[in-house]
Amino acid sequence: MAMTTGMECGIFMTPYNPPSRTPRQVFDWAVNIAQIADEAGYVDYMIGEHYTLGWENIPMPEAIIAACAQTTKNIRFAPMAHLLPYHDPATLAIRIGWLSQVMEGRYFLGVAPGGHKTDAVLHGYEDLSPLPPMQLEALRLMERVWEREPFVEEGKYFRAGFPGPDTMPEYWVDIADNNPYGGRDKLEIAVTGLSMNSKSMEFAGSRDYSPISFFGGTPQMKAHWDTWAEANEKAGFTPDRRRFRVCRDIFIADTDEEAKRMVRKTGLMQTWHKYLKEIYVKFGLFDGIISDSGVDITPEDLDEDFLVEHVILCGSPETVIEKLEKLADSCGGWGQIVANQHDSIDDPKPWEESLRRLSAEVCPKVKMPM
Ligand SMILES: Cc1cc2nc3c(=O)[nH]c(=O)nc-3n(C[C@H](O)[C@H](O)[C@H](O)COP(=O)(O)O)c2cc1C
Repeated sequence: MAMTTGMECGIFMTPYNPPSRTPRQVFDWAVNIAQIADEAGYVDYMIGEHYTLGWENIPMPEAIIAACAQTTKNIRFAPMAHLLPYHDPATLAIRIGWLSQVMEGRYFLGVAPGGHKTDAVLHGYEDLSPLPPMQLEALRLMERVWEREPFVEEGKYFRAGFPGPDTMPEYWVDIADNNPYGGRDKLEIAVTGLSMNSKSMEFAGSRDYSPISFFGGTPQMKAHWDTWAEANEKAGFTPDRRRFRVCRDIFIADTDEEAKRMVRKTGLMQTWHKYLKEIYVKFGLFDGIISDSGVDITPEDLDEDFLVEHVILCGSPETVIEKLEKLADSCGGWGQIVANQHDSIDDPKPWEESLRRLSAEVCPKVKMPM
């Protein structure tokens, strides 16, 4: 297998902020981090969509993206992800196309069924089980809207259509071109994967949508790529590892000792203690990480020492490069490392420095098989 040097870096702004932060604080901070990331050479900036979570409170990622249209130059944006079962597909298809034109192409689309029961209940569902087939139908109708051919369809869950010359024979109106910037073919769609036997990765591969994973240890990462690549190949496409994005917690400082000491004071560690640990347990993301570590420990007993050693990519730039290369050796390469964003409002400097170092000192040097 050929080796390459360098990979892209991106940011995932879930966001993780304490529920005490106001929506205005989180909004301003998210826009500010995008500007820093843009200046630091990050390629993509992805924003989550959650409706009921106090720790991840951005219910409208497109509002952040629109604000960043005027404050950034090169970085691309994506909702990661629009939760398709909760949207009217025709409305969303038009808004996505329009926003991608406002962004003049610095836009791609993340889609997901929705991962949190509290959001499902908000939308009138007892649990998450009805959502995956709704996502499929929504996406199919959105693709139909983007074809811009006349149709009216009533699906099982949603309805959509597109007007044509026969819609109003008595008089004509110009139909706005709110298709994605440069045409539907130019719109990258990415699908999120979490579980070991990921149905999302299979679906993404078969439709040639890009894969993006939350890291849950080498067995899960390998499984995600293998599932995606197999489905992609079976559908007649050529799998390309450069399309694979992997999300991780990362903290970099001058030395390992300093990074390990400083990370304990960041918002990242606060999120872990007050929120993320239980989420990782719930989604089973620790299982593979614990088996990779060789440490005899249960997810419930994980402490800060384990987190800084095995969960967070924490250390000097050289150590983080080494850890990434080790991961690439066991899982194969990928295209973009995505740093999970955590609250840095009270003490921004060390966090922002870490972000800059990931882009300037780590990503250009990582060697990986492709
Ligand atoms: C990178 C990434 C971003 C995600 N963003 C969201 C989100 O914004 N809102 C949400 O409810 N779920 C989000 N999820 C979870 C998905 O809704 C869904 O639970 C998951 O992709 C299912 O994957 P699976 O089929 O592998 O189990 C995200 C997952 C990943 C990996």
